[in-house]
Amino acid sequence: MKVFTVEDVKKHDQNSDLWMIINGRVYDCTNYAPDHPGGAEVLMTVAGADGTEGFNDIGHSKEAKEQLEGLVIGTVEGAKTMTVVEEAQPQGQSQSSSAKSTAPSTSKEIPMPTHQNRRLIVLAIIIVLLLVLIMYPIDPIITEIERLEQLVREQDSMSTVMNRNRTAGDSFGGLGT
Ligand code: HEM
Repeated sequence: MKVFTVEDVKKHDQNSDLWMIINGRVYDCTNYAPDHPGGAEVLMTVAGADGTEGFNDIGHSKEAKEQLEGLVIGTVEGAKTMTVVEEAQPQGQSQSSSAKSTAPSTSKEIPMPTHQNRRLIVLAIIIVLLLVLIMYPIDPIITEIERLEQLVREQDSMSTVMNRNRTAGDSFGGLGT
């Protein structure tokens, strides 16, 4: 497979000539762009550049990754990881010719957080919160609040009565002088 430099890829940043790097491999998306379900514009944002983050962030389906494989034209000099695309490679297609030719032998697979993963995390947090809410005894708290409210009300009415008495006393005093 052909090896390109990042500079080579940069030159192909037009609608009519649209290359991008994803996980260290170079893809010619020129013909695919008009059919991209997410729109051609979004592909233009990474035209001639590295679209790995954008591609992984969306959490593209296995089918999308397989389609991507059909567009590969080479690899990038010194590329480190191509985990996501390797996952989707059709069976029987050797990884060694592409991946190992550019990836250092020590490179590790870095799992990228996808939208689906994030959705799962948010869902898990919501479930935990709900469980805490269900398990936490909320009734005693409500009773305590009601008791405090009652106390405040009693104090209010007592101070109103005392004020009234004081006013009455004042008017008697006023009469005496
Ligand atoms: C040539 C590379 C690409 C291919 C083959 C491809 C393929 C696809 C496919 C098949 C879908 C439909 C949903 C799915 O099956 O996952 C899709 C949706 C989408 N793609 Fe791509 N994609 C590519 C690159 C990119 C890049 C680089 C970005 C972002 C910078 C991107 C952003 C999106 C968005 C925003 C959607 C819509 C997601 C939604 O509506 O939920 N794609 N893509």
